[in-house]
Amino acid sequence: MAHRIPVARVARLAGLSRSQVQRLIQAGTLPTFDGTVDIDDLVAVFPDTDWDADGEMRRVEEVKNRAFGRRLVELVLPDKHVLAERLYRLSRKYAAAERRAERFALRLRWLEERLGAMAAEGGAEAAVAADLRDWLRHEQLDGAKESDRIEAVLAGEGMMEVISARVRLEPDGRDFFVEGNDTVLEAALGAGIPLEYGCSNGNCGACRARLVSGEVRKVHPHDFALSATDKADGAFLMCSYTAVTDLVIEAGTMGVSDIPRQIIPTRVRAVEHLGEDVAALHLTTPRSQRLRFLAGQTVTLDAGGVSGRYYVASCPCDGRQVTVHVRRTNDPFARRVFADLGHNEDVTIDGPGGDVVYDSVLGRKLVFVAWDDGFAPIGSLVQHALSLDEGQPMRLLRVADEVGLYRDNQCRSWADAYDTLEYTVLSAEGGAGAVADRVAAACGDIAVSDVYAAGPKAFLDALRGRAVGLGMPEGAWHGLVMDRDSNAG
Ligand code: FES
Repeated sequence: MAHRIPVARVARLAGLSRSQVQRLIQAGTLPTFDGTVDIDDLVAVFPDTDWDADGEMRRVEEVKNRAFGRRLVELVLPDKHVLAERLYRLSRKYAAAERRAERFALRLRWLEERLGAMAAEGGAEAAVAADLRDWLRHEQLDGAKESDRIEAVLAGEGMMEVISARVRLEPDGRDFFVEGNDTVLEAALGAGIPLEYGCSNGNCGACRARLVSGEVRKVHPHDFALSATDKADGAFLMCSYTAVTDLVIEAGTMGVSDIPRQIIPTRVRAVEHLGEDVAALHLTTPRSQRLRFLAGQTVTLDAGGVSGRYYVASCPCDGRQVTVHVRRTNDPFARRVFADLGHNEDVTIDGPGGDVVYDSVLGRKLVFVAWDDGFAPIGSLVQHALSLDEGQPMRLLRVADEVGLYRDNQCRSWADAYDTLEYTVLSAEGGAGAVADRVAAACGDIAVSDVYAAGPKAFLDALRGRAVGLGMPEGAWHGLVMDRDSNAG
């Protein structure tokens, strides 16, 4: 039987993004069978790929990690027990394959000898036997030509099975990889999949999932007690377990209405000046209280009695490191940030709020538009969409006005790392209406796009009017109003 590789692994093996592989599949260039690719087809479609060199695969991962600002040191090998178990399973698999191959070789040799003997005996069947023997020899030699490349692909796939495990989520159908010491929950959030969870440290039971197939291993202790019936039914806590093998799990995803109000004491990790008039306020929550939120949502911050509401600029995949962008205004909270709010000072988070979040339908184009510090929620939404890597074309447009084009390099590195993302900078000249015209012209096909835009109300009204006028359905519009004083409208 032909060896088949899951589509999700094909992208990594070939050093491509998932979206590039999806496009090859949609174009019919790369045939698939139930979400897998035949290894012979893979080698045929990528004739120039050096399967022995994992450098390309690593380069793509590193570019993405830099684009997301992840620390590469966190990309470590799995827990030693998990590693040992995966190596053992791989050894068993290859031992079985070796035994099958030996038996197969013996039978082939016997067959070849029998055909040789029949050919030598003469008679009516001699010519047919000689033809068959020659065909058999030719097939074996022909197969040997490709075997080096096939072996290199198999070796790469085996290596991937050791360093990461694939998880398929039911009934959602999406999949993601668990790498290093990540729990199943951490891996899902990092992949942009908002699974239901609560405390993230084994106390509440909100991250309970059902294991349909595969094997998990506890990597963090948990106080929440699963009943014997739950355990017998395959229940496990995603915040405490990692994947030993590829998994299929049943788990719920989180929508806006599932996220409760949270009041979390945090400490200032840093105030980072991104320009003359805008600063990133980086906050760290206690280990046991991550902020659960979705990209596009707001939080209210309080520092010693002065407060302000801001869009969260960071990725929901890391609820312990929360960042907001604060522009220099007369708002008391902003004055505090620019005056003397320092490292380790207390800031309380109350939130999240807002219901404009990422909800795009697979297949529609995505347009993200950020006017000035509208880049806070738009940047978070872009990270979310990139993490999902679902392959639809994305366009990020930034309008630089009063606070300038901060984090421009970050946007360029996203565009470098993902061939699906185009990045454009527009001037604010002419005001809301003129900029709305330029955005619509730059997009070209705004009528068939899902639009996420953050900026002053006048601009959002103008852009929405243009987009709807060009045929965009109302449901495709996602507007985030930026308040002049406190960022989140
Ligand atoms: S999130 Fe609370 S137990 Fe896992």
